[in-house]
Amino acid sequence: TDIAIGIDIGGTNTVFSCIDANGKSWGNGTIPTQEQERFEDFLNDLCDSIDKTIEDSGEDLKLIGIGIGAPNGNYHTGTIENAANLRWKGLLEISRLVKERMNVPVKLTNDANAAALGERIFGGAKNMDDYMVITLGTGLGSGIVVNGGLLYGHDGFAGEVGHIIMRPEGRECGCGRRGCLETYVSATGVKRTAYKMLAKHMGDSSLRAVPFNDLTAKMVADAANNGDLLAMEVFAYTGKMLGEALANVASVTSPKAIFFFGGLAKAGELLFEPVREAMEKNLLFLYKNKISLLPSELGDDAAVLGAAALIWNDQA
Ligand code: BGC
Ligand code: NA
Ligand code: ZN
Repeated sequence: TDIAIGIDIGGTNTVFSCIDANGKSWGNGTIPTQEQERFEDFLNDLCDSIDKTIEDSGEDLKLIGIGIGAPNGNYHTGTIENAANLRWKGLLEISRLVKERMNVPVKLTNDANAAALGERIFGGAKNMDDYMVITLGTGLGSGIVVNGGLLYGHDGFAGEVGHIIMRPEGRECGCGRRGCLETYVSATGVKRTAYKMLAKHMGDSSLRAVPFNDLTAKMVADAANNGDLLAMEVFAYTGKMLGEALANVASVTSPKAIFFFGGLAKAGELLFEPVREAMEKNLLFLYKNKISLLPSELGDDAAVLGAAALIWNDQA
C-alpha cells in the first residue's frame, strides 16, 4: 500500500500518521515537541519514530512522500521561521533536512493551513470556497480559504489571526509583542486568564485546590461544565474576545463558515455561545447571521490528514 506521512508539529506534541490515498490511517505516533534542545535532534527522533511505525505496522507500506504542517511553516520555502511557540528560533530548513534523511518528496505548510486542507478534502468544508479554520492549542492558528484557495500572501505567511493585537500593551506574546489574540484565546491563554481571575476574585472555585503549575485549560473547561462560576467567567471572557476578533477578520475574508479545531474546541457551547454572541454583536450588517461556527468534522486527525493531502492532492 502506498502511503504518505502527514505530520502535525504542535507547540506541545508532534503527531504523525501513515495515510493512504483514501484518507485511511495505517499507523501513527506522537513525540513531545519541546524536549530536544537542537532542532536537528528533534527531527532525528521524529524520523526514527516514523521508520519504526512503518516497520512495526506489519504491512507492506510504501512511503511516497511526507507532508508537514507546522507553526510559521512556509509553503514557498519549506522552512519554519521564528515560531512563537517553538523553542527553536531562526530559520529551520525542515523540508530539506527531512528530505535528506527520508529520501522522499517533502512538502510543508502552516499547521492551520493543513487543517483547512484536511477539512475540505475529508471533512465539513467539502465544496466550500470560502471558509476558515481556527486551531486552538498552545497557540491560535488560522487557515483561510478565499475564492477556493488558501491565502498565502507575499511571503507565504498570510493568515496569522493569532497575532492580531487585541489589547495594545496587553499580555506578553511568544512573538515578542504584546496583547496578541493567542495570549488570551488558546489553551495557554485560558490558563493565564484563570490565574488572573483566581488572583483577583475572592470567590469560591474548585480550581483553587489545583497546584499552581498543574492547572490545564481542560480542567477549567471541566470546572465550567460543572457550574464553577469563576471557570464559566473564564470561558465567557475568552469567547467574547475570540468573537470580537472574528467579527473583524470577517470584514476582510467574508467566510461562509468557521471551523474550530483543537483541545479547547472540545469545550463546545461553553466557548461557542460567547463567541457567537460577541461575533454577531460586532459584525458589520453585511455579514450578520450568515456565518456558521462549526466544530471540525475530523477531530484530532484534521491536521495530519491535511498534511498528507499536500502529497496526495499536490495542492495547498
Ligand atoms: C503561529 C501560527 C500557528 C499557530 C498554531 C501561532 O503562534 O504564529 O503559525 O499556526 O501558532 O500553532
Ligand atoms: Na495560516
Ligand atoms: Zn503574538
